[in-house]
Amino acid sequence: MKSVLNFGIALAFFVYFSDASTKCYEGKQRWDPEPVINNVTLVNCKSGYNCCYMISSLDGTEFGCYNDCPKDNNILSCGPDPKLGIQDIHYCYCKSHLDANCRPYLGDSKTH
Ligand SMILES: *[C@@H]1O[C@H](CO)[C@@H](O)[C@H](O)[C@H]1NC(C)=O
Repeated sequence: MKSVLNFGIALAFFVYFSDASTKCYEGKQRWDPEPVINNVTLVNCKSGYNCCYMISSLDGTEFGCYNDCPKDNNILSCGPDPKLGIQDIHYCYCKSHLDANCRPYLGDSKTH
C-alpha cells in the first residue's frame, strides 16, 4: 500500500514537472504616471518559450514568456550588472511564474 502511494506521488511530480508548457505572468503594471496599467495574467507559454522575463523601467514593469533563456542550470539571472551603473532599468529571467523575481504585485492577500 505504501509503495502504491509513493508511486502515486512520484507520478504526480512527473506529470507536474514534465508539463511541456511553462506558465508565466504576462502583461504590464504601471502605477505612475496615470493611467494605471495592470493587465497581468497567468498564461501558458507558446512552445519554445521555456522561461519568463520581467523588465522594469520608469514606464512600468512588463512580464511575459521568453524563448531565449539563459542556458546554464542557474537559469535565474537578473540584470543589468550593478557595476554598469544603469539604474532606470532592471530585468530578470525566471524558470517559471513561481519564481518571485518574475511575479507581479498581486495585492496583499493578507488584508482580505
Ligand atoms: C496590457 O496593456 C498594455 C498597455 O495598454 C498593452 O500594450 C498590452 O498589450 C496589454 N497586455 C495584455 C497582456 O493585455
